[in-house]
Amino acid sequence: MKKSKDLRIAVTGANGFVAQNTRYLLNNKGVKLYGISRKNFSNYKSESKIISPDISLKEISRKLKNCDALIHLIGTGKLTANSTYKSVNLDLTKKIILLCKKSKIKKIVYISGLGVSKNSISPYFTSKYKAEQEIINSGLDYTILRASYIIGKNDPLVINLKNQIKKGKIIIPGEGNYHLQPIYVNDVAEVIYNSVISKKFSNIILELVGPEKVTFKEFVKLFKGKRKIKIENIDLEHAFHTALKDPNSNYGIEDLNIMIGDFTGNHEKLKQLSGLKFKKFREILQASSLS
Ligand SMILES: NC(=O)c1ccc[n+]([C@@H]2O[C@H](COP(=O)([O-])OP(=O)(O)OC[C@H]3O[C@@H](n4cnc5c(N)ncnc54)[C@H](OP(=O)(O)O)[C@@H]3O)[C@@H](O)[C@H]2O)c1
Repeated sequence: MKKSKDLRIAVTGANGFVAQNTRYLLNNKGVKLYGISRKNFSNYKSESKIISPDISLKEISRKLKNCDALIHLIGTGKLTANSTYKSVNLDLTKKIILLCKKSKIKKIVYISGLGVSKNSISPYFTSKYKAEQEIINSGLDYTILRASYIIGKNDPLVINLKNQIKKGKIIIPGEGNYHLQPIYVNDVAEVIYNSVISKKFSNIILELVGPEKVTFKEFVKLFKGKRKIKIENIDLEHAFHTALKDPNSNYGIEDLNIMIGDFTGNHEKLKQLSGLKFKKFREILQASSLS
């Protein structure tokens, strides 16, 4: 096995939440990084910065020769005027697989979503499932991590709840009795590193879930803490209706699908395989003043 300082790792979606935290960890371990993004970003001293708005294969592949692995962190859970789940989650994954082949990179690590399966019907889940299938059938050595909510400073869920707090109330779709299994972004970065260096992570799909399950209702209560903020339950039909009508609603259609999907996973397997000690979400909420 190579030492960290001899490893060369490419990271797509370099500007994103998980990518920033993963690049931080890898850089600290002495890994030589190749960050790939659509737009400018602040890179580490020894990190090669690759800016390519349309992921130009010819241009990027030349720069990635001799990389040991690629961590594919491009993805979206929100529709915009310019992008669909298919165009970002599936089509760009196909392109990244071609990039790996062209650059002779043998290992790919991908973050999919908890609850993704061949029976998925929603556009987000379907795009993630099809992206998984492309990776599995690519011939590359792969680790697919199906993530629950990844939490840390400025994660999408924390930003959403903070924005609602600013407006004076937090909305809970339905009763809020569905579960999440939050995992700390620093732990996610460690798992990604392990996926690159350990053969135990070769050609597997793993659930990327934290040590504790919590209902959304309880999570919101803990997040709110002692603040005098109103918590309002709205019925699910109303929540879906608002999500369909208003692109700026607190919860998009896919947020709601994920929530009511009530997806939880096997943390013990992840713990055993990685040998890591994972943070509990309560410790994260308290220690890093996320809320
Ligand atoms: N955060 C979670 O709780 C969670 C849970 C389950 C799965 N995941 C998956 O984990 C991966 C990373 O998530 P994240 O939370 O770090 O997301 P994020 O902060 O939104 O970052 C995703 C990155 O993907 C790239 N991207 C988005 N739309 C794009 C487009 N139209 N064209 C090209 N690149 C585009 C962007 O990279 P640049 O700005 O650098 O170009 C963006 O920063 C995603 O695949 C996501 O689906 C995350």
